[in-house]
Amino acid sequence: MLLLNQVTKKFQDEMKALDSIDLTIEKGEQVILLGHNGSGKSTLLRMIGGLETITSGEILLDGQSVSLAKQKEMRKLREKMGHVFQKFNLIPTLSVFQNVLFGALGRNPLVVTALHPFAKKELREKTMVCLERVGLADLAVRRADQLSGGQQQRVAIARMLMQEPSVILADEPIASLDPKAGIEVMDLLVGVAMENKMTLICTLHQLDLAVSYGSRFVGLKNGELVLDEQKAKHTVDSFAWLYGKQKELLQNVT
Ligand SMILES: Nc1ncnc2c1ncn2[C@@H]1O[C@H](COP(=O)(O)OP(=O)(O)OP(=O)(O)O)[C@@H](O)[C@H]1O
Ligand SMILES: [Mg+2]
Repeated sequence: MLLLNQVTKKFQDEMKALDSIDLTIEKGEQVILLGHNGSGKSTLLRMIGGLETITSGEILLDGQSVSLAKQKEMRKLREKMGHVFQKFNLIPTLSVFQNVLFGALGRNPLVVTALHPFAKKELREKTMVCLERVGLADLAVRRADQLSGGQQQRVAIARMLMQEPSVILADEPIASLDPKAGIEVMDLLVGVAMENKMTLICTLHQLDLAVSYGSRFVGLKNGELVLDEQKAKHTVDSFAWLYGKQKELLQNVT
């Protein structure tokens, strides 16, 4: 279980990027995080993932404090959290296989010295299982930078699966993809989270997809938590108020 208690973040400019966020997310829940640009979504994900310090309040994962963790505890906590980013963050010159194998490094530091083709047999087999799950086993030897954006994001998901996290933190995972690839990646992300009973927290700007994939919707506005609802009969319009004037501007442009 993930527990956020009065979590507040101020950057140097003293503006509150996040203000007194209280949130409890049960294991295996699938949460879509919504909100306008600058509302604090990425900051929240980064703080949950231990990539950003918090100014006050507390974040607990399965009873362990992320916000107060010392270096060694933090390493263990980070292993439990898998990240999927908009920009994939693959190593472009390495093969698909090597990129996915890297996902195991957090749990198996010794494998650093045993990279492909010398990695332990079971890790190499596991790498192929993860690549099969994302439908890319046949591209294992291809250089990562020779894949399409959608394929690269699927490699990033395979890398995340190697890590066996209990929580997936996905920050706009489909923002760089065309609509078809975006749907494939969302199907995959939600599918692997369900199969493995992983908690998923995913930010999305595509409200139509948010409505189809979310089982719970959390919304931020100017750093405050202003929406927290289980799946209901939502439509795209029922979230438009979160975006205020920005949404109207967007509609005028399109
Ligand atoms: N490293 C930083 N230093 C100073 N201010 C920051 C930093 N990171 C984020 N902020 C500020 O915190 C606020 C929240 O930013 P954040 O990136 O979390 O928003 P977001 O909801 O993810 O936006 P977007 O939809 O554009 O990705 C913004 O006002 C932003 O300018
Ligand atoms: Mg963001």
